[in-house]
Amino acid sequence: MKFTILRFDSVGSTNTEALKQAKLGAGEGLCVVARRQTAGRGRYGRVWISEPDAGLYFSVVLRPKIANRFLPLITLTAAIAVYDALAELYGLKPDIKWANDIHVNDKKICGILAEMTESDGGLAIALGIGVNLKLSNFPPELIETATSIEAETNRTPDADALLQTLTRRLAEYYSVLNDENGAEKIRREWARRSSYFADKSVKVKLENETITGTTRGLEENGALRVETDGGEIKIIQAGDVEMLRKV
Ligand code: BTN
Repeated sequence: MKFTILRFDSVGSTNTEALKQAKLGAGEGLCVVARRQTAGRGRYGRVWISEPDAGLYFSVVLRPKIANRFLPLITLTAAIAVYDALAELYGLKPDIKWANDIHVNDKKICGILAEMTESDGGLAIALGIGVNLKLSNFPPELIETATSIEAETNRTPDADALLQTLTRRLAEYYSVLNDENGAEKIRREWARRSSYFADKSVKVKLENETITGTTRGLEENGALRVETDGGEIKIIQAGDVEMLRKV
């Protein structure tokens, strides 16, 4: 995949801009980057605080050819790429919290949001990635659960170097996903990098209930298997998963 970079000083959301460009026919690899977002969003309609130069905020247009049932694996693919970039550039030891949050020392350093649209060219995805470079203007309640490259390394990271390494890794693993047996390979790479893959005690908030149990691997499409304390296997397609701290 070749990337074409479209830069903004300020934009509402790079995902919105990427979706708009995809509808206008943008090809795979268009990468929308902004120094700040005025309406940055996270999953479930949450706000993604996007102060100028405090994070790397970007969205890539993808036009995947994989079977629809495997589409959720795209965010897992992105998480693998972010993991590797943070390890390679800064020597960090990240973890992937299912499905696609990147944590360092049990605090969130990166979030991923994939959104879909239809255009004449078929289905397109805006794959949005936000990495905390520094925690400027984060509210105190977020400081407890969020971290940044600066906080973890005591160095101010270079956003362009990070973008370059990240897109390189993304291209690499996206091509793995498109290979024969790509889905299986991605699940295996994800499993190697995530402590959430198996035998982790978790609490899962679903729409109508909260369950606790132990993780038991991934389904074919990346959904998480959780064995409840009652011994039943639940398949989590979407939901907030939290580690249960042992007391
Ligand atoms: C999450 O953890 O809930 C996902 C956060 C995704 C944030 C990124 S920043 C770049 C892109 N543009 C957005 O509005 N959101 C994503």
